[in-house]
Amino acid sequence: MPLVPIDSLTTSSEIITGLSAAQASISPKYFYDAAGSALFEQITQLPEYYLTRTERAIMATHADTLALRIAPGATVIEAGAGSCEKARTLCATIRPHCFVGVDIAADFLQRAVAGLRREFPSLDVRSVVADLMDEIVLPVDLPPGRRLVFYPGSSIGNFAPDAALGLLRRMRRLTEADGALLIGVDLVKSKAILEAAYDDAAGVTAAFNLNVLRHVNRLLTADFDVAHWRHRSFFNEEQSRIEMHLEARCATRVSWPTGCRSFHRAERIHTENSYKYRVADFAELLRRAGFARQVCWTDAQQWFAVFLAEP
Ligand code: AVI
Repeated sequence: MPLVPIDSLTTSSEIITGLSAAQASISPKYFYDAAGSALFEQITQLPEYYLTRTERAIMATHADTLALRIAPGATVIEAGAGSCEKARTLCATIRPHCFVGVDIAADFLQRAVAGLRREFPSLDVRSVVADLMDEIVLPVDLPPGRRLVFYPGSSIGNFAPDAALGLLRRMRRLTEADGALLIGVDLVKSKAILEAAYDDAAGVTAAFNLNVLRHVNRLLTADFDVAHWRHRSFFNEEQSRIEMHLEARCATRVSWPTGCRSFHRAERIHTENSYKYRVADFAELLRRAGFARQVCWTDAQQWFAVFLAEP
């Protein structure tokens, strides 16, 4: 996941707006400073966090079909490429001619694509620094041929359905007339399994959630006392989403150079939503975004789905 550039006015005003609202919130994009990115890597290896390994197993099971459907020589565009870790396996499977990593964090992305170049010397590797919430502008000199947009890890779940639809439509434009989208989506399942995945026994998710306060302290020159906060997460069945919050252990206050906010005991800051889909509902979202033809692969337990979607 991306590291976020830390020095913009937009960043400060966005965080202040979130903290000052009646229901305080901090955008999940601020999870990913260096410590948060390392904690997220640990999360992906936790026994309770089934998403990463289940997606990997589905991709491995269907690697041959994928390779057949996406002939060698395509251009792979990975949205939110981060460490490009998942791209490695995909590139070994489908042997593209060109790889474009798209991410908001320039430095992190440059390091990741440099690693990919070393590993695949004949691959034409490019990078595009962009926020997925904006239109993604690709290099004009991309080679001709099919494009495969790759968006793994159920990152689409961190957007509310309307924003997810907007993002899928932008991805549809990237695929042009004959490309495809390969996307991982976490599915609705028992509350117990979902809630354990976001509140693991080792406390890594709690540390990940709390770390956002340290990051905000640096970004805003604020003074959150992390010891005053605890991790809370639960499955909101009505909204079909895991919600993560930080809950005040006691009455507390945070200040930054231009203001402050007091919180009463048990008041919460909403830090993340992670939407969980039913296969039919996500298929419908893809259709509305312009992907008429779809193949959906799931694991035996139907915990996670990988869609290969075409216009
Ligand atoms: C990055 N994203 C898909 C993760 C998720 O599962 O929503 C972020 C995460 N939050 C807590 N654990 C993992």
